[in-house]
Amino acid sequence: MDRRHVLAAAAACTSVSAIPMVAQAAIPASKLADTFPPIDSSRAYVDWMIQQRAESADPLAERYRRFQALVNNKDLWEARNMRAFLMTPREEFVLPRNLPRAYEHAFLDIGYGVTISGPHLVGRMTSIIDVKMGEKVLEVGTGSGYQSAYLANLTDKVWTVEIIKPLAQRTRSIYDKLIARGYGEYQAIQSKNADGYYGWAEAGPFDKIIVTCGIDHIPPPLLQQLKVGGTMVIPVGPPGAQRVLRVTKEQSASGAVTVSRSDIYGGRVVPFVPFTKLDGDTIKGTHNR
Ligand SMILES: C[S@@+](CC[C@H](N)C(=O)[O-])C[C@H]1O[C@@H](n2cnc3c(N)ncnc32)[C@H](O)[C@@H]1O
Repeated sequence: MDRRHVLAAAAACTSVSAIPMVAQAAIPASKLADTFPPIDSSRAYVDWMIQQRAESADPLAERYRRFQALVNNKDLWEARNMRAFLMTPREEFVLPRNLPRAYEHAFLDIGYGVTISGPHLVGRMTSIIDVKMGEKVLEVGTGSGYQSAYLANLTDKVWTVEIIKPLAQRTRSIYDKLIARGYGEYQAIQSKNADGYYGWAEAGPFDKIIVTCGIDHIPPPLLQQLKVGGTMVIPVGPPGAQRVLRVTKEQSASGAVTVSRSDIYGGRVVPFVPFTKLDGDTIKGTHNR
């Protein structure tokens, strides 16, 4: 998408000129929800974000630079997803030692042997499922918490499951601290420590499901918890060689349910951390067949 299209898409979301410039930090998310940050220059974006959210200039400038790369690479193509990227402080979800690298293309270590996915992958996987406000979304693999924070800018109903208990606890406390600082949109996120292979049955069915760990098949419980008409995005394949699939569930007039798949990277291999398995309280092996 070229610059003119980006600006048009942003304008379709909300008129940039209609954004009230409030001279106080961290205004409630409810008031920010319908606004789109100015994107005609890095300076305009950074200044606006500092005014609205009291975030720091350096990571904001990096976020803007990465935003432009995502748009150019066609990982973001629609205004609401662009806004979600621009409003999510990725720097809050990386380890302190990785702060200067928060907006790099690559995935980063977040401890416990797992990673935060790179921004291009998050952008494309989230754009593909096209989340609308009010839709119920399940994420399997909370990790750093960045993906669900991003989703909370698209809908007010997000559930996320993480198998590593101390990581699930750490991420929950990041959300709670951010909520206390004025990021009210993260109140949309329900999180728990569990084996996400089994989804979150009590909260389902879901309009959209996003899986951020790799497995060699689509978990039947997740397919079951996906609504008819719903979409899932999931890395499927042998260890370290997954392909990211968009999976849709449809029902024909005769009542037959069909599932179709397409590769969101045209066949390119994208390695993910493994979809591990809980045996009692212990993580043991994977769910691969
Ligand atoms: C690529 S990482 C995290 C990406 C994450 N969405 C983010 O924004 O940081 C994948 C995560 O899936 C988790 N995971 C692996 N198997 C799981 C399972 N069976 N249930 C839930 N989470 C799982 C890992 O512990 C890891 O935190």
